[in-house]
Amino acid sequence: MFDFIKPSRLRELGIVGMNERNVRYIMENNPRKFFPVVDDKLKTKIAAQKHKIAVPQLYSVVREQSQVRKLKDILAPYSEFVIKPANGSQGKGILVIVGKDGDRYVKPNGEKLSLLDLQRHVSNTLSGLYSLGGENDNAMVEALVHFTDAFKNFTYQGVPDIRLIVYKGYPIMAMMRLATSESDGKANLHQGAVGVGINLGDGRAVGAVMHNVTCLAHPDTGAKLSELVVPHWDEQVLLASRCYEVTSLGYLGADIVIDKELGPLILELNARPGLSIQIANQEGLAHRRAKIDAHMAQNPNETPEQRVAFSKKAFARG
Ligand SMILES: Nc1ncnc2c1ncn2[C@@H]1O[C@H](COP(=O)(O)OP(=O)(O)O)[C@@H](O)[C@H]1O
Ligand SMILES: [Mg+2]
Repeated sequence: MFDFIKPSRLRELGIVGMNERNVRYIMENNPRKFFPVVDDKLKTKIAAQKHKIAVPQLYSVVREQSQVRKLKDILAPYSEFVIKPANGSQGKGILVIVGKDGDRYVKPNGEKLSLLDLQRHVSNTLSGLYSLGGENDNAMVEALVHFTDAFKNFTYQGVPDIRLIVYKGYPIMAMMRLATSESDGKANLHQGAVGVGINLGDGRAVGAVMHNVTCLAHPDTGAKLSELVVPHWDEQVLLASRCYEVTSLGYLGADIVIDKELGPLILELNARPGLSIQIANQEGLAHRRAKIDAHMAQNPNETPEQRVAFSKKAFARG
């Protein structure tokens, strides 16, 4: 990353590297005891709901193999839902069901699964097939998000999400990740997704990169990336900022998706957010962090609303 930029230029831009992130961002701001609340999606969900943070509704949790027999009853009230390992990552073990056809469950690609298929999936989840380190896990059943059409010209398959990094409760940088045919519908920049830097001030694109190279249009849809505007922007920045109170993590990544009816929802929180957000924004985190630290020295204990007002003003671009 950034191999082609001289070290002096990196410093000028305030680009933070991996070692500095690990020591000065994660270790200094994220005591280990606060990790479980973000590493376990069930704990995240419960903590978020306690703080009235909008998340996809939790329908049920399957914790024991003995409950797998009752799965039909557990799922009976819902015609669509998502089954997800509490300790999963990178989309592994996430089963999306968009409808029912008689007693079969329909996936987004039209494939139909039997109750037995679902029971097997849940059983595998509980035994740790999809969890980090293969530990026993819980299977969550949650509401299906109906993703907004606002980005339909800007993504190839895949679900666009918004990543906000929050430093000591202050939104510090934002980006959107857009899937491409090359990234196989996945929103992972290393796999060839497009990263779009987002102006914290107003939710508009400030620039975009694909494989670290500036990119003006979406490679599959041709949509001009400079025209991308994230709707519900103020609501999203506030939602992300309030996750500081939920987690106590001083360096936090919040992943947000937009539901057609419910608006922005927190999908996932991360205690070790990556650094590619800097490439997408063509700007580093270091100068912004210094601004926040200086502001906090004069204005301790601000509310989430005050923190958002500061960040939107201090980091507005263009
Ligand atoms: N409730 C949901 N409704 C619809 N799609 C979902 C839902 N939860 C997850 N997904 C899909 O799965 C992907 C990964 O989900 P996420 O919760 O971020 O788990 P992971 O840790 O595996 O990244 C999302 O980007 C989305 O495409
Ligand atoms: Mg995710």
